[in-house]
Amino acid sequence: MASQINKKMLWTLLVFLLLSNMEQRCFAEKGKRQQVPCLFVFGDSLSDDGNNNNLVTLAKSNYPPYGIDFPKGPTGRFTNGRTMVDFIAKFLGFDHYIPPFATARGRKILKGVNYASGAAGIRNETGQNDGDRISMDRQLKNHQITLLEIKQMLGNHKKSTAEYLSKCVYVVAIGSNDYLNNYFSTQYPTSTIYTPQQYAVALNDQLSQQLTSLYKYGARKFAVFGLGAIGNIPIVRSACGSGTNGSACIEYINNAAELFNVGLKSQVVAFNYNLTCGSFIFINSTGIGLTSPLLASLVSNVSCCETFTTGLCVPFGSTCSNRSQYAFYDSVHPTQIVASVYARRAYKAQYPSDAYPFDISHLAQH
Ligand SMILES: *[C@@H]1O[C@H](CO)[C@@H](O)[C@H](O)[C@H]1NC(C)=O
Ligand SMILES: *[C@@H]1O[C@H](CO)[C@@H](O)[C@H](O)[C@H]1NC(C)=O
Ligand SMILES: *[C@@H]1O[C@H](CO)[C@@H](O)[C@H](O)[C@H]1NC(C)=O
Ligand SMILES: *[C@@H]1O[C@H](CO)[C@@H](O)[C@H](O)[C@H]1NC(C)=O
Ligand SMILES: *[C@@H]1O[C@H](CO)[C@@H](O)[C@H](O)[C@H]1NC(C)=O
Ligand SMILES: *[C@@H]1O[C@H](CO)[C@@H](O)[C@H](O)[C@H]1NC(C)=O
Repeated sequence: MASQINKKMLWTLLVFLLLSNMEQRCFAEKGKRQQVPCLFVFGDSLSDDGNNNNLVTLAKSNYPPYGIDFPKGPTGRFTNGRTMVDFIAKFLGFDHYIPPFATARGRKILKGVNYASGAAGIRNETGQNDGDRISMDRQLKNHQITLLEIKQMLGNHKKSTAEYLSKCVYVVAIGSNDYLNNYFSTQYPTSTIYTPQQYAVALNDQLSQQLTSLYKYGARKFAVFGLGAIGNIPIVRSACGSGTNGSACIEYINNAAELFNVGLKSQVVAFNYNLTCGSFIFINSTGIGLTSPLLASLVSNVSCCETFTTGLCVPFGSTCSNRSQYAFYDSVHPTQIVASVYARRAYKAQYPSDAYPFDISHLAQH
């Protein structure tokens, strides 16, 4: 009798252990468990989640109809809902959005900070025509402020701070404005100084120095994003005009961006070789854009919202009736549905060309 009870208890225990083990595994597979201690974000309006709200600049989006599909309404995100980085945070298992540097306070910063700023670029002068913006160099300075606070929170212990940071993911997605709000704008002299090839090299070199600084500050896991096909965005399409010259103009701009992408990818290869404690991955944004059947099915030659000539939405202006059918929310920035496609494939590559040498889900485990 006694031994029978014991047997029953043992079985119950075994079944319980099996079930709970399975549950844990499924939980992890769904990405609910936070996979890295923190996520830091460097970039432009594609990632900005509020850093420009209090800057004097035209590059702002903290008004309707931005945020129309975001739970909190307009936040400074340049889209109808979530950004690509919001989705990446979700896939990494974070239960909250990564706060903008402008408002991030207290222990929250231990889980990461978003430094991205609309109109900002790799180069200091990029976007200056729109007003103030936080260039990549300034984003790095802001990151150093965060690091001092984190170090203090971790007991001013140098080694445990370094260990902590080494497990975090650093997303770097910047460079579009160095073309759109610099090289291809007549308001900047850069195109009279550099050929597209020379300009790509100059940008690659400067970003390479900036990434090296991040590495020196303790970053080890880098997800570096290539530029999308910036020639295809509605504001560029309409500036290029229709007809054969229009498509030649679009192609010229896309080719210039691709020179930057190819250089960036080979720098990622070099970084993995030279900075042996770090892991660097390159996300092929252009490739993801070209090979997504969903994106191909969307309206992509016009914006969803009514726009100014700057490409941004008119405050309280009209919007398209179904935002899931449009690739661009305003004339520059992708809709939430497009952001989700880029994030999903950056996190878990669908094709080998999406992420090199591996995707963000592997970077997190690395
Ligand atoms: C950009 O500006 C920062 C100050 O905001 C300065 O430290 C840095 O040297 C500048 N970089 C270049 C390339 O001019
Ligand atoms: C169109 O492009 C061709 C050659 O690329 C050039 O000769 C022509 O002047 C352009 N036309 C316009 C209207 O820009
Ligand atoms: C990596 O090292 C090679 C050879 O030592 C050097 O030529 C190259 O500039 C380095 N690249 C980077 C990104 O540091
Ligand atoms: C990006 O992917 C496409 C295929 O989708 C490929 O043709 C292209 O070479 C890739 N770009 C880079 C920089 O690896
Ligand atoms: C956008 O593309 C659609 C067809 O795909 C076309 O009917 C429409 O005229 C285009 N609009 C503009 C502004 O180019
Ligand atoms: C919006 O478009 C999507 C994709 O075409 C479709 O699945 C959805 O039913 C549409 N929603 C409405 C309210 O029409």
